[in-house]
Amino acid sequence: MIQIGNVTIKDKIILSPMAGISDSPYRQICREMGSGLSFTEFVSTDAISHNSKKSIDMFRYQEMERPIIFQIFGNKIDVITEAAKIIAELKPDIIDLNMGCSVSKVAHKGSGAGLLKNLPYAGKIIESLRKAVDVPVTAKIRIGWDLNSLNYKETVKVLQESGVCAISVHGRTKSMAYSGVANWNVIAEIKSMASVPIFGNGDIQSHEEAIQKMKETNVDGVLIGRAAIGNPWIFSNVKREGLDFSEIKRIILRHLDLMVNFYGEKFGIILFRKHVAKYLKGFYGVSELKNNLMQVTTYEDFVRTINEYSP
Ligand SMILES: Cc1cc2nc3c(=O)[nH]c(=O)nc-3n(C[C@H](O)[C@H](O)[C@H](O)COP(=O)(O)O)c2cc1C
Repeated sequence: MIQIGNVTIKDKIILSPMAGISDSPYRQICREMGSGLSFTEFVSTDAISHNSKKSIDMFRYQEMERPIIFQIFGNKIDVITEAAKIIAELKPDIIDLNMGCSVSKVAHKGSGAGLLKNLPYAGKIIESLRKAVDVPVTAKIRIGWDLNSLNYKETVKVLQESGVCAISVHGRTKSMAYSGVANWNVIAEIKSMASVPIFGNGDIQSHEEAIQKMKETNVDGVLIGRAAIGNPWIFSNVKREGLDFSEIKRIILRHLDLMVNFYGEKFGIILFRKHVAKYLKGFYGVSELKNNLMQVTTYEDFVRTINEYSP
């Protein structure tokens, strides 16, 4: 069990926040499979403070997803604080500040990993958030801007002193983006010095590896991102490669239902394509099925196409 403020998290392997992937439908699927909580993708505080319906809608969730963490990003303390007050009305369990996004248009404007370059300001943001909302505030970081500025010790110190209740660490620098490998030695070092729960993150490929990483580094929990796309079973210790096609189909159809309910038929099916490609990846003899599913535009055609397939 992990305790973050007043929030108890029972399962320690968790779906990482991913823009365009960790929406409510996929969070539900992963939560059912054993992911310990639901982490929304990051949402712009500028957009929230302008009352953008599209952005605020990204925080829609189901009760079964709890504990639910809303993740936000921004670079202006007043705007971030105002946005947090707005979304606090939607009753998240935790609010998380993104300090790890490496995309230039975010990080080079001082948001996301850009905050690693201005730690006193990041600390002030956390303090301000703590005062503005009555749920725990957490942060997701990288280990530094680049290899010449590995400031993770300072980052953790500042965040803790500012009242952060947990920290997720992606073991890469901003400059690495997704290249190279995540540095789990640094994650272990952070865990050894931290007084708040630490979630380790980066490159975990399987359930066993998640457990092994927790043992080796003593982190409180781990986040799995890319390896969980098309493989929600990763949270349940069932190996996707050993599954019968009927089980893959069952989850695809369950996920499809959730997508269509959430986004409507047209968008639900379009947005589902990237998931389908990942669900079917690596299965022998499914390329024709995959091509056909990429072209269907109605729920009925999708279900018929997948039902006609026999492995
Ligand atoms: C498509 C995609 C979208 C992402 N979006 C977010 C995001 O919105 N917020 C965030 O904190 N991290 C985001 N990340 C980073 C992941 O949460 C995670 O830190 C990173 O992928 C490393 O973990 P992994 O090796 O298990 O994928 C994203 C990653 C990917 C691949």
